[in-house]
Amino acid sequence: MIELAPSILSADFARLGEQAQAAVDGGATVLHVDIMDGHFVPNLTIGPPIVASLRKVTRVPLDCHLMIERPDDFIPVFAEAGANWISVHQEACVHLDRTLHLIASHGCKPGVVINPATPVHTLDEVLPLVHHVLVMSVNPGFGRQSFIPSSLKKIELLSQIRQSRGFNFRVEVDGGVHHDTIANVVCAGAEILVAGSAIFEHGSPRESASRLLESARAAVENRVQDLSSVAGDPRQP
Ligand code: DX5
Ligand code: ZN
Repeated sequence: MIELAPSILSADFARLGEQAQAAVDGGATVLHVDIMDGHFVPNLTIGPPIVASLRKVTRVPLDCHLMIERPDDFIPVFAEAGANWISVHQEACVHLDRTLHLIASHGCKPGVVINPATPVHTLDEVLPLVHHVLVMSVNPGFGRQSFIPSSLKKIELLSQIRQSRGFNFRVEVDGGVHHDTIANVVCAGAEILVAGSAIFEHGSPRESASRLLESARAAVENRVQDLSSVAGDPRQP
């Protein structure tokens, strides 16, 4: 199932509740929360109090993307604040297996993230443990960057591995997702689509979310039609 996860990084923080709700009204079913510490990435964003405030105004899952060093120290407070999904970077975790179990032990869905320079095979041992794998399609730290095309191969590979090894994780993509790139990420196999600037920097978040979802669903529809024509589906002319 395709889901849109607006990244609040690009929202107007003085109107955060209202903007988040508008994106949900436009069809978003997850809210993506980017947490940066100024060390793992060269930017600072928000902490648990904002997650707690969002928790009070929305029922959709809060997808907390930790771009921080020593994530184990902060997982309990984000869980307490109301995070539903917590993802950590493979590159930030020396004891990744332990960290993923820690997330689950706090009642959250564990996710793992890879940077553009990190190969998919570094996740081989943890794929059975995760609820989602987040493929960064930009170098993390900022919104409004250009999509890195090589991330498509990683999304495809993850989809293949999931099928061939019978795993259940979901594939999420983050960075540079907008109208020009969304069809490619969906066709590669991404199902949870994070978008920041495309939702919050182009007028109404409600309309932007709705249009972006429409583009994603149209891409899925076209892919299904293409596959059935390749397979010689008798319904095709
Ligand atoms: C980047 C963040 C992204 C960012 C995406 O480090 O993880 O979630 O907000 O922003 P856009 O959609 O503008 O690339
Ligand atoms: Zn993110």
